[in-house]
Amino acid sequence: MTAPLSFTRELNPDPLPTEQREAALASPGFGKVFTDHMIVIDFDEARGGWHTARLCPRGPLRLDPAAAVLHYAQEIFEGLKVYRHDSGRLALFRPEANAARLNASARRMAMPTLPEHLFLQALGELMEVDGHWFPAVSGGSIYLRPFMIATEAFLGVRPARQYKFIVIASPVGGYFKSDAPAVSLWVSRQHVRAAPGGTGAAKTGGNYAASLIPIAEATEHGCDQVVFLDAVERTWVEELGGMNLFFVLADGRVITPPLTGTILPGITRDSLITLLRDEGVAVAEEPYSIDRWRADAGSGVLSECFACGTAAVVTPVGSVLDGEQRFTIGDGAPGPLTKRLRERLTRIQSGSAPDPYGWVTQLG
Ligand code: PLP
Ligand code: COI
Repeated sequence: MTAPLSFTRELNPDPLPTEQREAALASPGFGKVFTDHMIVIDFDEARGGWHTARLCPRGPLRLDPAAAVLHYAQEIFEGLKVYRHDSGRLALFRPEANAARLNASARRMAMPTLPEHLFLQALGELMEVDGHWFPAVSGGSIYLRPFMIATEAFLGVRPARQYKFIVIASPVGGYFKSDAPAVSLWVSRQHVRAAPGGTGAAKTGGNYAASLIPIAEATEHGCDQVVFLDAVERTWVEELGGMNLFFVLADGRVITPPLTGTILPGITRDSLITLLRDEGVAVAEEPYSIDRWRADAGSGVLSECFACGTAAVVTPVGSVLDGEQRFTIGDGAPGPLTKRLRERLTRIQSGSAPDPYGWVTQLG
């Protein structure tokens, strides 16, 4: 049990000048602009766990070249957005779910868990100091990236005994570069993202390293994102490199792949299932094959398809390229249920619709 920790504050003596900050915030892109500060909390087994929590100037880390993260990839991360409500107050969406998923990832990667209250406190501290980095663009937010790395200098293969939990913040606009109303997907036939018994359900860097070649293949083929199939039968549609998938049938039913351990349990996925079921829509968490996808798109049984995630929100899928074969979903344009869901979710997140589920946490 970690004793209560209080955060110390060392303010950046050299923050980005206002003019430069405002220029950066006018077109932030995704993950390219960073705020002036970061949070760091250290863990040392020999000192009884988590200690020394601080807010400090954002800057390079000092790491021993033998630090375990650099060799055996003991690393996990989270991603969540800060929204600004009309009142001007900043708010988080389901941050407890991110804290819980960080700890689920930690358990899979033999890393220490972080008490939820420390996770939440860290986000609040950082936004208290860097909240003025909110971007000026429509749909903009501050994307928080909490992560944990193994810092112990040791080359044996065993769980490290020292770690750092860090939070950085990045003002962001949309995730996709293209302004196309719907994205195109490339089916990865040669490479898989995660196998049964592996680390697919953990948010750990290695899963994303494995997705880079398939994402590059998607780009080479003119597609926006890659879609992965299951590793064993190469039949069942799993998820994209950084998003979950939903299929909307013309008879009104909705299907999303089940959480069998190889896909990331998305918080957006879970929220959309709740919103849909509350509307009386039947949502099945069941396997959906690539052959069925192609056939259903061709016959019109499938009317819409969308991807979802913190960064991508709800993104319509317009077409899929599988080798030489391309199929289009509906007329290739965003469908009505996709648009309605995106609207419902973003209105709750931005505070412009009631929050009956208690998903929104105001900061400050
Ligand atoms: N799947 C993967 C592989 C992801 O990286 C993400 C993004 O975090 C998601 C799904 C969606 O998860 P969430 O909705 O919690 O952002
Ligand atoms: C997110 O949506 O938070 C993600 O992590 C996706 C991607 C940026 C890795």
